[in-house]
Amino acid sequence: MAGSKPRLRVGLIGTGFMGKTHVFGFAAAPRVFDLPYEPVLHTVADRTEALAAGAAAALGFANGTGDWQTIIADPEIDLVDITAPNALHKEMALAAIAAGKHVYCEKPLAPLAADAREMAEAAEAAGVKTQVGFNYLCNPMLGLAREMIEAGELGEIRSYRGVHAEDYMADAAAPFGFRNDPVGGGALADIGSHALATAEYLLGPIAEVLGDCATVIASRPDGSGGSRAVETDDVGRAFLRFDSGGTGSVEANWIAMGRKMQHDFEVYGSKGALAFSQERFNELHFYSAADGIGRRGFRRIEAGPDHAPYGRFCVAPGHQLGFNDLKAIEVARYMDAIAGNTPEPFNFRAGLRIQQLVETVHRSSREGGWRRIA
Ligand SMILES: NC(=O)c1ccc[n+]([C@@H]2O[C@H](COP(=O)([O-])OP(=O)(O)OC[C@H]3O[C@@H](n4cnc5c(N)ncnc54)[C@H](O)[C@@H]3O)[C@@H](O)[C@H]2O)c1
Repeated sequence: MAGSKPRLRVGLIGTGFMGKTHVFGFAAAPRVFDLPYEPVLHTVADRTEALAAGAAAALGFANGTGDWQTIIADPEIDLVDITAPNALHKEMALAAIAAGKHVYCEKPLAPLAADAREMAEAAEAAGVKTQVGFNYLCNPMLGLAREMIEAGELGEIRSYRGVHAEDYMADAAAPFGFRNDPVGGGALADIGSHALATAEYLLGPIAEVLGDCATVIASRPDGSGGSRAVETDDVGRAFLRFDSGGTGSVEANWIAMGRKMQHDFEVYGSKGALAFSQERFNELHFYSAADGIGRRGFRRIEAGPDHAPYGRFCVAPGHQLGFNDLKAIEVARYMDAIAGNTPEPFNFRAGLRIQQLVETVHRSSREGGWRRIA
C-alpha cells in the first residue's frame, strides 16, 4: 500500500484536539486504505516555535514552525490542513488557495457565510480540492441509515429529530475562548453545524427553519481577572421543513451537563424508524412495523465488515471503530478526491451550505418567523 505512491506533503496548522486527530487520520489511512498518495507529514505550525517544535517531535513531522505563513510559502507542501481557531480559517485557507495548495479545513469553515462563500469560490476558481471536517458523516452506520432511508425501508419519511449535546461549556467559570467569539461563535455554529449536516445527509436539503437560540451563561472570565459578556448562544434549536416534505428539529447544546458526545438522531417513517447515538456509534437501531404483533421493538444492528469501510479496519463484527478511525476515513476519501477518482465528499461549498443554515437559524431566532434557506 504505502511506499511506492506519489507523495502528498502535508502542512498542518494547529496542534490541539483536532490537529492530533488529523495526524491520526493521516497516519492510519495509508495503512487501512489503498490510497492514491502516500501522505507525508512535512511541516507543522503552531503559535510559537517551541509549541511547533514540540508538536513536530511528538506527532512525527519533519519540521515545525511558529509562523503558519512558512507552510504557505513552502513549494514542497501540497496540502494545507487547518485546525486552528475558527476566526483564522479564512485568512489561512485563502493564502493556501492562492499558493495553489489543496486545503483541508476544520468546521465551521468560517465565522460568516459571506467568508465561507469567498473561500469556496476561491478554491473553485483555483481548481484546488477542499475538504471540511464533518467527520461524523464518515461513520459507516450513518451510511447504512441513509441507504435504508433511500431504499424505502422506513417507508415515507414523516419526521426527524437531531441533537448534538455536550457539556464542555457547562462550567460557568471556564474562560471566554474562541468558541465564544461574537462573530461566528456559539453552540449552533460549533456543534449544531454537525447536527444540521447530519440532518441534510440523511433527509436531503432543508427548505425552511424556525430558530430559537439562547445565551444561558451571560459572562465568562476573561483570563486577566475580569469578566467578558457572552453574546453567543449556549443552546440553539431549530424546527425544520425539508424539501422532501418531512419536518423535524435539531438542538445544539454545549451546556448539557453529563453529555459528552450526544450526536444523535431519530427518523420516523410510515413503515419503520431509525435511532442512533454517537455515544454508541457502532450501533444503529431499526424498528420495523412489519415485525409480528408482540415481536416489535428496536433491533440493534452492530457495525461489522458488511458496513464498508469497517472491514478495512477490522475483520470481526462488533469490535468497533473509534473517533480517530472516522478521521482516517475522512482523509482517505479526501485523497481519492484529490486524485480525481471521486467527487470531494464535503468540500468548501458544502461547508458554505452549513454556514448558511446556521446563519438562517440565527436570523430566525433574532427576527422571528420561518426563514427560507437562501
Ligand atoms: N470535526 C470535529 O468534530 C471538531 C471537534 C472539535 C473541534 N473542531 C474544530 O477544530 C478547530 C480547532 O479546534 P480544537 O478543539 O482543536 O482547538 P484547540 O484549541 O485544541 O487547538 C487549536 C490549535 O490552534 C493553534 N493556534 C491558535 N492560533 C494559531 C496561529 N495563529 N497559528 C498557528 N496555530 C494556532 C493553537 O495553539 C492550538 O494548537 C476549530 O475550528 C473547531 O471548531 C472540530
